[in-house]
Amino acid sequence: MGNTRICLLGVGAYLPERIMTNEEWTEHVDTSDEWITARTGIKRRRIAADGEGTVDMAVAAALCALDDAGLAPDEIDEIIVTTDTPEVYIPDTAAFVQYRLGAREIPAYALGSSGCAGFLQALDIARARCHFGVGRVLVIGVEVLSRLISWNDRNTSVLFGDAAAAFIIGQGKLGAEIIGVTAGTDGSRVDILMMEVGGSRRPFTLEEAQQGEHQHVIMNGRELFKEAVRRMSEAACRVIEQAGVTLQDIALVVPHQANLRIIQAVAKKLDMPLNKFFINVQEYGNTGSASVPLALWEARKNGLIAGGDLVLLTSFGAGFHWAAALLRF
Ligand code: ACO
Repeated sequence: MGNTRICLLGVGAYLPERIMTNEEWTEHVDTSDEWITARTGIKRRRIAADGEGTVDMAVAAALCALDDAGLAPDEIDEIIVTTDTPEVYIPDTAAFVQYRLGAREIPAYALGSSGCAGFLQALDIARARCHFGVGRVLVIGVEVLSRLISWNDRNTSVLFGDAAAAFIIGQGKLGAEIIGVTAGTDGSRVDILMMEVGGSRRPFTLEEAQQGEHQHVIMNGRELFKEAVRRMSEAACRVIEQAGVTLQDIALVVPHQANLRIIQAVAKKLDMPLNKFFINVQEYGNTGSASVPLALWEARKNGLIAGGDLVLLTSFGAGFHWAAALLRF
């Protein structure tokens, strides 16, 4: 890969206006603010407006990141979009984004269905593309999970929220250096988080759709919890080891925001104080592939990252996939 310096040139985010509280979920399912808060730490989440789609949100986040980087859309050389909630099934969301953003006729592609780890997987690819010579890559994580899930299933509905966030990365001297990225997959654990109906294995039937099966997320929450803690911690240690630094050198950890208790357990496993972890799951819930870049955007906006800081990103997602990245600001 050589010694080329690959940097984070800009970060942006977009959040739908509508805020939905835990209390509001009690109108749809048998739940309570107490249960959701105690089990997940989530207090509220954003819900996309009627008519607001994945591309609208992705483009808004991309424009925010371009503004942050001081770049125009025609200065982007490649686009990767990660999402579990595509605009349509065919073609991919990236094609819509390329046109709506006003980008040149550059390569644009999507990483779909790799859940919450998708963004850091895409960052890994984008970084490699920049090493290969591509100038600037726009990476977008976007989810309209409120349209994917069943609003009648209390096991999953209350966990998620809608958001988009984006990074622009490229070669350069300015911006946070992406020191390392690591990623992995254990496909033997596909069973712990899956949407079974709708693919080639089990296409939709009218009966299943009438029973809401097309929105049924199969989730083994306890197994997911254990795998999440294990894999996020392992990925964090691996990327740090590869960079030749230690956990003590880390100024801030920006983990995937699925559940406060998972973040607390990762902190314990890594033997790091919780105050080194950026947490905003209480505000937005689990926003899937938007979660990590959204958290980094907010941490930076809140002045929590200083020049010279080492910042560790770590994530897990359905698959089971995991990934971590190390940045020096
Ligand atoms: N309100 C009230 N009760 C509920 C709700 C709800 N919203 N949801 C589930 N319950 C009930 C269940 O029906 C069950 O009741 P039962 O015991 O009578 O059958 C009980 O609560 C479940 O209790 P526990 O299993 O003890 O709940 P737990 O403490 O494990 O918390 C949770 C469940 C929050 C899902 C937890 O396991 C978890 O966070 N797991 C990880 C989930 C996750 O991160 N999902 C996102 C994956 S996507 C991604 O980020 C890759």
